[in-house]
Amino acid sequence: MTVSLIERFRDRLPVSAATPVVSLGEGSTPLLRAERLSERHGAEVWLKWEASNPTGSYKDRGMTMAVSKALEEGAAAVICASTGNTAASAAAYASRAGIPALVLTPQGAVAGAKVAQTRMLGAKVLEVRGDFDEALRAARELADRGTHALVNSLNPYRRDGQKTAVFEIVEELGSAPDVFVVPYGGGGNTSAYAQALRELGLDTPIVSAEADNRPATMASAIRIGEPAHAESVRAAHAHVVSVSDAQIVEAWRELAALEGLFCEPSSAAGLAALRKGGVDGERIVLTITGHGLKDTASAERYAPPPLLVDPDPDAIAAAAAG
Ligand code: F0G
Repeated sequence: MTVSLIERFRDRLPVSAATPVVSLGEGSTPLLRAERLSERHGAEVWLKWEASNPTGSYKDRGMTMAVSKALEEGAAAVICASTGNTAASAAAYASRAGIPALVLTPQGAVAGAKVAQTRMLGAKVLEVRGDFDEALRAARELADRGTHALVNSLNPYRRDGQKTAVFEIVEELGSAPDVFVVPYGGGGNTSAYAQALRELGLDTPIVSAEADNRPATMASAIRIGEPAHAESVRAAHAHVVSVSDAQIVEAWRELAALEGLFCEPSSAAGLAALRKGGVDGERIVLTITGHGLKDTASAERYAPPPLLVDPDPDAIAAAAAG
């Protein structure tokens, strides 16, 4: 039987017997040893494959907590602003809980598959004339009126859920790695990892990899001008490494070609930081946050196109050799 994240880590989460557990079988994701990346970069590299969560991103860890607690506290609906993944996750867990989800997205700035996923999952999607920061401000203001529970990572239960990735990694490796590396958008995940380390009594460094061109990066999941958790990222002494879009794309393609993991561009920011020398340590865990199928438009743009051939073995052999 699938064990929910809340059941697995019940003793380390703020839940009680009265908390209704809203689960889609999140967490317990693969931790993969990356042989070829390790060899290429001269370190022991591990990949935490968070795309294998139910909606295809790590957001589900936090959302199972946020929606379960919202239900426990009697919320009638949830709201979030999102660059796409929080949206899909909120929609899925709200459906599972039987309550409506209202999702605000920055107009024209979210990968198409994420919007389709969120709409299919039954959320009401409102495109906001503005960027993510403006959408988040509006979501907070509406939530303050009391009609909707805010399920962005400003909701502390989100960080409680997301910290469990660190518990899994440390448990599986048998000890902490030398460094954790995560992409940095709003900083909620960095702050969740820092919380986990505090709870475990560890001082393992965190590298947070951000786009150097925050407001316009091609990695739309982390296209966030003003990170809401900047202060807690500073307080955690996370080492912030800025990477360019070109570096993200190179890392993204390397991860797919060398290790067989097709993630979305933002998820490769950590590997981009490693490639540019921004990560120190022998044993390195890179968290790969979201699935490549969520942003197929970017893949179509950057991956080599197929060749057109006749259904003829000679033509096919010639094309394959070329
Ligand atoms: N990776 C992916 C795939 C994301 O979707 C996000 C954030 C991040 C990394 C950055 O994490 O914000 O905790 O520093 N996505 C949010 C969303 C903003 O709305 O889905 P962070």
